[in-house]
Amino acid sequence: MSEPIRFVDIIEKKKQGSRLTESEIRYWIRGVTDKSIPDYQTAALLMAIRFQKLANDEIVLLTQSMQDSGITLDLSSLDGPTADKHSTGGVGDKLSFLVGPLAAACGVPVPMLSGRGLGHTGGTLDKLESIPGYRTDLSSERFLAIVREVGISIIGQTGELAPADKTLYALRDVTATVDSIPLIVSSILSKKLAAGPDALVFDVKTGDGAFLPDREAGRELAKRLVEVSAKAGKRSAALITDMNVPLGAMVGNALEIAESARVLRGEPGGDMLDASFGLAEQTLLLTDRAKDAADAARQVRDALDSGRALEVFGRMIEAHGGDPAVLEDESKLPQARCRRVVKATKAGTVTKLPARAIGLLSMRLGAGRETVDDRVDPGAGIELRKKPGDAVSKGEDLAVLYAENEDRLDRGERDILSIYTIEDKSFKRGPSVLETVLSETGTE
Ligand code: URA
Repeated sequence: MSEPIRFVDIIEKKKQGSRLTESEIRYWIRGVTDKSIPDYQTAALLMAIRFQKLANDEIVLLTQSMQDSGITLDLSSLDGPTADKHSTGGVGDKLSFLVGPLAAACGVPVPMLSGRGLGHTGGTLDKLESIPGYRTDLSSERFLAIVREVGISIIGQTGELAPADKTLYALRDVTATVDSIPLIVSSILSKKLAAGPDALVFDVKTGDGAFLPDREAGRELAKRLVEVSAKAGKRSAALITDMNVPLGAMVGNALEIAESARVLRGEPGGDMLDASFGLAEQTLLLTDRAKDAADAARQVRDALDSGRALEVFGRMIEAHGGDPAVLEDESKLPQARCRRVVKATKAGTVTKLPARAIGLLSMRLGAGRETVDDRVDPGAGIELRKKPGDAVSKGEDLAVLYAENEDRLDRGERDILSIYTIEDKSFKRGPSVLETVLSETGTE
């Protein structure tokens, strides 16, 4: 008869840098799920993993065990292959509202599960809920029916998918173990595998406003995400995109919906469009709906230019109980009670506009949450009228702030003037898509 597993031995083993076996990883995650392993022991193992890391095989086993802690969606009724996009989070990141409709308009079914914003980053669900009537809490049956009818549905991450991740994430949050690439990979992928799409496209942000600011760490995360996805039988690709500067001009919930609609209506998309096109093209390539990169680019461009992506987004909003008229008429979106135009105090070129500081300011204006229970103000946020590389004269509009009262705007005005760097020199911004990482089963 084999000896019973002692959890302290598993912690010791990882502390020494040895590999954990499948039965040890499964024992741990079962114990996390049924609460038979105390939090202090799990916290110790998380810290050991933070320092000793996990090999890809261990990450696959951890991911599968976490996936098995809850239900798995059955997407077989969809006309697959299906694809989902995941972003590691940023400021002004409204790419889901562009990539999702673009991919769906090209025939890729997109069952998308999204989260809420916390800290300096916004959340897709908060943005969608700023649309009057839009519901993010639909049943899985209704979710699948909308994907079948419209091509895309975006709902909230349900607690039934990978519940072990919820417990582990809460513990990581309070034990300084969030910044562990193996733990991030297993956390993201356990939920994505439980949701069941055939292909995954990752938008890994790098830079000051990203979850992992360091470029090398972003690259490592992107590589691990595609490698572990491949081992789990999923095709995937990751784009590493710049998050040193907020994406687009709008930061805030309703403001970002308005900006997405403008881009889908054909207004210039700047840095948002490059990344959205890159991600949407990958969904076509990974699901074999394009014969090569040029074909994918042509199809995605046509989905935008023909207005089909805008139409798909409108139909999705309607199917979720929301008012699709917001896409043509921004005044139907919630408006902040107060608004202030901030003028430049000197002339020059904008050379820096750090994304993290803008995200935190947007949160203080009411658009984001400091703690999970905070309420968000759907109309609050920032409109950036100048971005790095833009010339500005003294007294010209720099930004517009939106909030529920003048107090917040007074503080916000002081803050934003100190966030912008304006210098007497020329400055050119780099590209928004920095690198592409493809899985062995992916297609270039
Ligand atoms: N997002 C997740 O879902 N999990 C992490 O660990 C980090 C980001």
